[in-house]
Amino acid sequence: MGTLRLEHVSKEYVTEGISVPALRDINLEFQAGEYVALVGRSGCGKSTLLNLAGAMDFPTSGIVWLDGVSTSTLNDAALTRVRREKVGFIFQSFQLLPTLSAIENVELPLMLAGRARSRETAKERLRWVEMEAYEDRMPYQLSGGQMQRVAIARALANSPSILLADEPTGNLDSATSEVILALLSRIAEDTGTTVLMATHSLEATGKADTVVRMQDGRVESACSSCPIV
Ligand SMILES: Nc1ncnc2c1ncn2[C@@H]1O[C@H](COP(=O)(O)OP(=O)(O)OP(=O)(O)O)[C@@H](O)[C@H]1O
Ligand SMILES: [Mg+2]
Repeated sequence: MGTLRLEHVSKEYVTEGISVPALRDINLEFQAGEYVALVGRSGCGKSTLLNLAGAMDFPTSGIVWLDGVSTSTLNDAALTRVRREKVGFIFQSFQLLPTLSAIENVELPLMLAGRARSRETAKERLRWVEMEAYEDRMPYQLSGGQMQRVAIARALANSPSILLADEPTGNLDSATSEVILALLSRIAEDTGTTVLMATHSLEATGKADTVVRMQDGRVESACSSCPIV
């Protein structure tokens, strides 16, 4: 059983009585430590798939299995725990809390989970992303690449099973993007976290173990060593 499996997953959004199919019969399975790039045109369903994978939303039909548990069967308390402890999210816009320092941003999810020695763990996570020298900086005192590294440290705070990244290099220059992509690759390899990244960047697909191409809510192809075109 992989850390993440989507079995006949479909998702429809209903707006003003009109149904919009966003995902259609998706079947995918990812293993621990797999680094996956999700590509396809705007509107093909990448962010929808990430939200379902992170139990932020649920399929209209089909099953999302996260560490062997169907997300649709979880009650509110279990969902909160799963979102906090099994899933890390990073975004194009970093979304650090502006009034907290770098280390406080990383420490917050540890405190919410009631972890002992949260400050030490937060420091360790900042070391993983080579940001320990910046722990007392406020987000506005950091560059975009530095903010994204802190956001990655925060997403990894509680050692999640999966790290979901929605266009994580969308606001970064190409040299900084390289650093972030290499970091995500190393995280998957070293910590066994499954990394699922939606991206429009060709560079990003180059480092991935698996490239999933989507079109119009469907998986067009999913392969581990496809030539990059
Ligand atoms: N909350 C929502 N309500 C209604 N429709 C939605 C909602 N979220 C997404 N959609 C629709 O679902 C489809 C898939 O959207 P999604 O955001 O997953 O695409 P995407 O691949 O992430 O696109 P992009 O590359 O632009 O981020 C689109 O047609 C979109 O308009
Ligand atoms: Mg999107």
